[in-house]
Amino acid sequence: MADVRQLLRGLPVFGGELPAFDPAATPDAPVELFTDWLLGAIRAQVPEPHAMTLATADADGNPSARTLILKDVDADGWRFAAHDGSAKGRELTARPYAALTFYWQPLARQVRVRGPVVRESAERSAADFLARSAGARAEALLGRQSRPLESLAERDTAVAGAAERLAGDPGLVPPEWTLHTLRAESVEFWQGAADRNHTRLVYRRTGSAWTKELLWP
Ligand SMILES: Cc1cc2nc3c(=O)[nH]c(=O)nc-3n(C[C@H](O)[C@H](O)[C@H](O)COP(=O)(O)O)c2cc1C
Repeated sequence: MADVRQLLRGLPVFGGELPAFDPAATPDAPVELFTDWLLGAIRAQVPEPHAMTLATADADGNPSARTLILKDVDADGWRFAAHDGSAKGRELTARPYAALTFYWQPLARQVRVRGPVVRESAERSAADFLARSAGARAEALLGRQSRPLESLAERDTAVAGAAERLAGDPGLVPPEWTLHTLRAESVEFWQGAADRNHTRLVYRRTGSAWTKELLWP
């Protein structure tokens, strides 16, 4: 069997040409810097740069994390969607507070966002649902995410049934589909460096004003 510990030690990290990051030349609002970094990741052809880790906690405070797709971001916050019946949906109902992490590996850039999560209107949630692919809508219509599944055949039959329902009623939207906005209280930008002199800048919000602070790597 492979010596995993030895293998892990030998793996490179923060290689290649890395971008510069000057915290003194950053905008006042973190959403502007986030958008700048996101566009940089898209330009650099980072695979799935809109994939992020969403961390939530249950009513006891025990955390869960999973990968999700970012739907939008603006001055109001970072948007993602979930079915209220999924584990993440239930956790957000119990504790509407979350953390997001983005990692753009080829650029050695990480962004961490934390804050309360608010539910968007039924209209905005419906618009998000209707913009999903047919397969994604069929899966979400079932509302069974994260529940135990007897067999893959059971899944395929149920999804085919949901797809048929949607084909007959293309405007159908499950009321449990919710667009959420994470209203950031803090946003940290982390630029990795091969020599480990990483640069960290955290924005913290008080009311509508942001302060910035450097952090030790
Ligand atoms: C790249 C990637 C993107 C994903 N995007 C979504 C997504 O947008 N929505 C979603 O519900 N699950 C998405 N998933 C699956 C989730 O990670 C997770 O398995 C699912 O949402 C169930 O999580 P839960 O049990 O915590 O509710 C994605 C997984 C990967 C690897």
